[in-house]
Amino acid sequence: TYIVNDACIACKYTDCVEVCPVDCFYEGENMLVIHPDECIDCGVCEPECPADAIRPDTDAGTEQWVEFNRKYSELWPVIVSKKDPLPEAEERDGEEGKLEKYFS
Ligand code: SF4
Ligand code: F3S
Repeated sequence: TYIVNDACIACKYTDCVEVCPVDCFYEGENMLVIHPDECIDCGVCEPECPADAIRPDTDAGTEQWVEFNRKYSELWPVIVSKKDPLPEAEERDGEEGKLEKYFS
């Protein structure tokens, strides 16, 4: 599976949603997650994210993000079309510690 990590928080560009063939992105207030059981591992979303927030779970250190993505994909509604990024997306892009600072 692929996962979304904290680089998405406060940006939420949603370019990823546009390309996913199985609509497995779920939308929270300020980030998206991928449902790990629905993702077919095609990888097309990874290069589309301007914030570089999408990673394969084969990357080191992604275990916690798989669980995070699983948890919230079961709580949040599916998102199937692209929308405007969050207002501070460019400003927050690349910032450290987003989970602690902005996640809601
Ligand atoms: Fe969707 Fe493919 Fe990305 Fe998985 S890897 S979330 S199936 S676009
Ligand atoms: Fe987030 Fe990147 Fe998608 S910022 S909404 S994972 S394009």
